Amino acid sequence: IKRNNIMDCLKNISVIITAGPTIENIDPVRHISNKSSGKQGFAIASELSKRGANVTLISGPVKIPLPNCLKIINVTSAQEMFEKTISQLPADVVICTAAVSDWRLVLEKTRIDVNNKIKKSNKALHFKTVENPDILAAVAKSKFKPKLVIGFSAETENIIENAKSKLITKEIDLIIANDVSKGKVFGKDYNKVYLIDKNDCEEWAQQSKKSIAFNLSNKISKILSNRP
Ligand code: C5P
Repeated sequence: IKRNNIMDCLKNISVIITAGPTIENIDPVRHISNKSSGKQGFAIASELSKRGANVTLISGPVKIPLPNCLKIINVTSAQEMFEKTISQLPADVVICTAAVSDWRLVLEKTRIDVNNKIKKSNKALHFKTVENPDILAAVAKSKFKPKLVIGFSAETENIIENAKSKLITKEIDLIIANDVSKGKVFGKDYNKVYLIDKNDCEEWAQQSKKSIAFNLSNKISKILSNRP
């Protein structure tokens, strides 16, 4: 396949990208969240848009400049990110870079009014964790399964093994694994990743998140150009 054909593969394709953290409110002033900056997802949205893809970015609350892309949908909670993502299907490619809160918290044995601040008292608070929907797995298993579904895997140990098992259970095509231990990735501009599919594991040298976006776009192009 000629280089031009590979480059053209991204023109006018529809891409959904989830990015950033999600926030789970406990009451009007408290929440749980995570350390995702949104940098990697935004860099991918920007790079694919430059190459002519129609990108819809679904982003949790972040503090970085918005990329140029077709459409941006701002969300707060995981449930909201889930609903908005599913509502944008079908798409040719879905890339889930968001660090979605796996759980939301519900106070046990107390009827709380989410509109009112929980009062301080001497009694310990007991929270129940309620699992949030897995957006990536739901997209991959939906009746609108995209041509290509890509996930990320933030790990602190057994990086490749854990990522591979997510690839299989979530039924996705490609997973990008990284080591987030010791504050190495969240909020930083550089990352070191492994690209894992059913058959291979590619180790990429440490590079900027923008450079990862560039190389990932080439990879997506190549995969799509090899599809019938
Ligand atoms: O299972 P784990 O959270 O480690 O999987 C990470 C991948 O799954 C990321 O691509 C993330 O965006 C996605 N994910 C999701 N919805 C969730 C949890 C994770 O889309 N509730």
